[in-house]
Amino acid sequence: MKAVVRTEYGPPEVLHLTEIEKPVPTDDEVLIKVRAVSVNGSDREGLVGRPLYARIGGLRKPSQHILGSDIAGRVETVGKNIQQFQPGDEVFGEIPGYGGGFAEYVCIPERRLVLKPAQMTFEEAAALPQAAVIALQGIRDKGQVQPGHQVLINGAGGGAGTFAVQLAKLYGAEVTGVDHTDKLDFLRSLGADHVIDYTREDFTKTGQQYDLILDVIAHRSVLAYRRALKPTGSYFCVGGSVATLFQILLLGPWIRRRTGKRIRMLMVQPNREDLVTITELCEAGKIVPAIDKRYPFSETPEALRYVGEGHVKGKVVITVE
Ligand SMILES: NC(=O)c1ccc[n+]([C@@H]2O[C@H](COP(=O)([O-])OP(=O)(O)OC[C@H]3O[C@@H](n4cnc5c(N)ncnc54)[C@H](OP(=O)(O)O)[C@@H]3O)[C@@H](O)[C@H]2O)c1
Repeated sequence: MKAVVRTEYGPPEVLHLTEIEKPVPTDDEVLIKVRAVSVNGSDREGLVGRPLYARIGGLRKPSQHILGSDIAGRVETVGKNIQQFQPGDEVFGEIPGYGGGFAEYVCIPERRLVLKPAQMTFEEAAALPQAAVIALQGIRDKGQVQPGHQVLINGAGGGAGTFAVQLAKLYGAEVTGVDHTDKLDFLRSLGADHVIDYTREDFTKTGQQYDLILDVIAHRSVLAYRRALKPTGSYFCVGGSVATLFQILLLGPWIRRRTGKRIRMLMVQPNREDLVTITELCEAGKIVPAIDKRYPFSETPEALRYVGEGHVKGKVVITVE
């Protein structure tokens, strides 16, 4: 089969379209013919090996040679323990280990897959798993957003952020989206009540305080985040600089004891139930995957380059024909 492979960290030039062995499913796996795969922030980080946590499993050289975690496609064959899917089913999901999706075929455990609704395109389905589940767990589960809460999403115009804005609105919050100048109208179109341009204003210095801050691109000190929280507020970091992550781990519990404010990491737990919830919300028209651009499979390096340059509104999806 064809796959986009790399053997070192670096720019999109390290990616090569090549022929490799088609994978064979274990008894608990499903072999899928990939029709679409989306690009996440984690692919961009995994490609270049930055921040440092993107090198877990391979400090000098990547152990994961094929990036791409969120796929949609058609079931080709199933392992002998598979109960819920059969050849021909249209499915989508997130591959454990954040890789393997930039390929014509991939094997995925049954528990990571859901059926794709007929009216949803493969591209729309591939845009959902990682980004929308991060947002759901951040807004609904950890954030416990209630009507009237003031919620700020930092990095609101990217993959996870666009879902977080829509979900926070759905749960009745007053939402502030922070992102680049180019994306402010886009954020308003998703439902954001207020927008902040990160190139001009630091949301931790406006004097405004929030019930929940969901941060997909943390790079400030925890003291800045503490300042921007209401007395009972919570801050959850999904991704960001290693320095900030360490500060959160070391000082978050101390801030909690001193002030009652929660400053924590959000470790996302991929699961089928949340993906089903997201699918139902999409089917009901309550949230939509925002797809900025589509690329053919042969142009996967260009897709990664586009994502790496910034300014993507929502998601980039690769179509695998
Ligand atoms: N915690 C977990 O369990 C877990 C699991 C999976 C993934 N993750 C992490 O989740 C993150 C999610 O990323 P994603 O896919 O949503 O990324 P993304 O699509 O790249 O979105 C990031 C957004 O942040 C914006 N941004 C850049 N600099 C900013 C700044 N200084 N202030 C505010 N916004 C800024 C970007 O805008 P520009 O266009 O201007 O760059 C972009 O719109 C990744 O770091 C990934 O590693 C965490």
